Amino acid sequence: MTTAVDKDLSLLRTGDRPQRDLFLDNRSVPTAARYARIEAAEADWIVPLVADIEADTAPLATRADWVAALAVLLAEERDGAPSSRYLADEATREQFAVVVEEFAPDGLTEAQNFFPAVARLPIRAQMAVMRVMIDEFGCGNIAQAHSQLYRDLLAELDLPDELPEVLRDTNDETYAFLNSFYWLASRAVDVEYFLGALAYLEAAIPDAFAFQARACERLGIANGRYYTEHIHIDDFHMREMQTAIKEYEAARGLDPTKLLVGATLLSSLLGAAMDAAVAKAVAKTAGR
Ligand SMILES: [Fe+2]
Ligand SMILES: [Fe+2]
Repeated sequence: MTTAVDKDLSLLRTGDRPQRDLFLDNRSVPTAARYARIEAAEADWIVPLVADIEADTAPLATRADWVAALAVLLAEERDGAPSSRYLADEATREQFAVVVEEFAPDGLTEAQNFFPAVARLPIRAQMAVMRVMIDEFGCGNIAQAHSQLYRDLLAELDLPDELPEVLRDTNDETYAFLNSFYWLASRAVDVEYFLGALAYLEAAIPDAFAFQARACERLGIANGRYYTEHIHIDDFHMREMQTAIKEYEAARGLDPTKLLVGATLLSSLLGAAMDAAVAKAVAKTAGR
């Protein structure tokens, strides 16, 4: 049954958790008041955060410099943070379930917040991003949609699978990771931040999800396909994102530094979200 909350998630706002409230506004039909709230929250958070990252980033001259800088970032992260290694090798089924529920607001809404960026790209770059999006939505086949693969995983772990329900206890770090894409796709004036962030994400996920896939195998979880499918398909998505960036450059010119700023932003937000998720899983299950 559709509830009032399904129609207007902003009804769940509490006024005392800025990242959660921002996510609820981002997921609601915008009114002028709501949009002003979103802009004010972003002006207090992601706008200065991006400016700080940009101030700390050595300027890149060319697209080739960006490709090289991304390779360095990915190589640094390949072995995984201690939180990822814990998940792969030590977490109990109960702890793994806490992490799966923590990322459910992402899995259940996967790629939806990328759409506004498509319309802001030159046409050939749109095509490359659309090829990524088509896969994210299972080529129109619900059984293959990434959000459905996540639902299958939630079901196996006896977790709720509707968005309002999975927001019971979500960390601010997870909301910040999710909220970043709403800004990147819709409000960051330079769309290179979005392109760099998504190019990073697609390139980082095959390594990052290898830890979750290992956990599923070790714990005998049958619906680890959400992770293994990403390990497979994001290799293509990573290349499509580089095509999108190349086409963007051909049509409009490119600021490669902004690509790296987007990548660095996502790397830090996703890393913090994973660390917080695993810390929560350990804390929740302590003494059991
Ligand atoms: Fe996906
Ligand atoms: Fe992908």
